[in-house]
Amino acid sequence: MKPRDRLRIAMQKSGRLTEPALELLKRCGLTFRQSRDKLFCFGEGEPVDLLLVRDDDIPGLIAQGVCELGIVGRNVLDEFRLTAGRESEPLAELRPLGFGRCRLSIAVPQEFDYSGPAQLAARRIATSYPGLLGAWLREHGVEAGVVTLAGSVEIAPKLGTADAICDLVQSGGTLVANQLREVDVLLESEAVLAGPQNMPADERGDLIALLLKRLDGVIQVRESRLLLLQTPRAALDAVTRLLPGGPQPTLLPVAGQPDQLMLQALCAGEVSWRQLEEIKKAGAREMFVLPVEKMLA
Ligand code: PRP
Ligand code: ZN
Repeated sequence: MKPRDRLRIAMQKSGRLTEPALELLKRCGLTFRQSRDKLFCFGEGEPVDLLLVRDDDIPGLIAQGVCELGIVGRNVLDEFRLTAGRESEPLAELRPLGFGRCRLSIAVPQEFDYSGPAQLAARRIATSYPGLLGAWLREHGVEAGVVTLAGSVEIAPKLGTADAICDLVQSGGTLVANQLREVDVLLESEAVLAGPQNMPADERGDLIALLLKRLDGVIQVRESRLLLLQTPRAALDAVTRLLPGGPQPTLLPVAGQPDQLMLQALCAGEVSWRQLEEIKKAGAREMFVLPVEKMLA
């Protein structure tokens, strides 16, 4: 493959990951000109183009060198790593991206009496993830029949072609609709940035490093919250002790109320209702939790 000076990122053409993935790339300063076939989008700001494909094809495209990076579910990436031939280029999970969370689980019909993996011995399990399921069964020393299906895995028990399934669960709605119940989790999944284990040694390697740096900044900001509150000076110690981790808070005087302080703190993650209620009990009031738009330390 001839070295290129532009980078290609593959992502799902249409599905649950499409919108959040585009939004993330936009936040990293990447914008694209929509082409008519919508399969290839030319990058405008940076020399980074987009390939819109089926999610299951993404790891293979990276391994073949058609593109350098991909945004894909960990389930798809790990399945490829387990089933790709030895000659295939090794792939790496470069960053977890924090959206598209779901899990790969074993589900059984309501009436199936499940007490552990051993219960699956000699049963037939339908899945689109034979690699991940096979590895899990081996790990538990269970010999079962793996029925590989490309889709509609959840109807296999009703059709009598399998006794259990191993499929993705997000809300659980699909399982309920098919009278199945989730009994074991094989893999916690989310969207990840996938790439080659060996970075290209040309300009594309530098571009990838630049993108990763921007991505880390975007992820950090996305998870940051600014907490604002007012507290009596007397309660300051108690309130400060309850603040979610982060740099030292900033204290400001409140005009006309010398016994009161305004406190401002950057928090590294979500601030829960429970935490707010605790802080309020310690004496704080007028509390605001704000998302952070940009950050430059
Ligand atoms: C997955 C999975 C289930 C469904 C589970 O399919 O195969 O059918 O989502 O989600 P739920 O728990 O919220 O009901 P998806 O729509 O992602 O399509 P794909 O697996 O064919 O890519
Ligand atoms: Zn899919």
